[in-house]
Amino acid sequence: MNIVLLGPPGAGKGTQAARLQAQRGMIQMSTGDMLREAVAQGSPVGLEAKAVMAAGELVSDAIVSALIGERLDAAGSNGAIFDGFPRTREQAEALDLLLAERGRSLDYVIELEVEEDALVERIAGRFSCARCGASYHDRFNLPRQQDLCDLCGSSEFVRRPDDNEQTVRRRMAEYRAKTEPILPYYEERGLVRRVDGMASVEQVAAQIDAILDS
Ligand code: AP5
Repeated sequence: MNIVLLGPPGAGKGTQAARLQAQRGMIQMSTGDMLREAVAQGSPVGLEAKAVMAAGELVSDAIVSALIGERLDAAGSNGAIFDGFPRTREQAEALDLLLAERGRSLDYVIELEVEEDALVERIAGRFSCARCGASYHDRFNLPRQQDLCDLCGSSEFVRRPDDNEQTVRRRMAEYRAKTEPILPYYEERGLVRRVDGMASVEQVAAQIDAILDS
């Protein structure tokens, strides 16, 4: 099964994708994570992406589509969760092509419906494990044991440089202008399912599971 998780910054895409990967053996394909990795390594892609990401704007379609293409073969028979990709019509068309070349297709596009005002609070409280990347929140999603990652036990946590209010507002504007308009492309094919992204992490997970098991 191959699915896209769609929603604005802070909607919970990464949280749900990581859970699906852990529970169903699907592979999480996060272009945000891939780009942050490239920035950390100082690779040519990272050097090009760094300032664009810091400004809250979108990296070029060619770069992110190439990143997904390189990793797609790693998605085994349990399928992939596309998290933060596609973000433009061009990327949506590129994804269709990349999947078709491998004899695959999309099963669902799951839109996380959220209220934008609540997202700034979500993003401002977000932190993640410096070792394994597991995502947490100061109020909504704390590690079970204080200061220890649930998944790998590390006690080192980090916050993203683009998680400040000004950049978050810019990222949201980019979502509204460039990403939301791709929904009709998928609606025409009957792929879109909607979940209430304002519910708790567990309730959102249950809604997604109900779709995948239907
Ligand atoms: P990316 O890393 O994809 O960021 P984003 O889309 O802005 O999404 P976020 O990671 O901020 O949010 P999320 O929906 O994953 O929420 P999360 O689960 O963490 O992209 C970053 C940048 O990279 C872009 O701005 C762009 O520059 C570039 N880029 C990436 N992909 C690109 C592409 N395809 N094309 C071009 N450029 C690209 O949750 C947020 C917080 O809320 C967490 O703390 C979490 O614990 C908490 N939380 C989650 N769910 C709930 C809930 N139900 N209730 C309460 N709290 C919750």
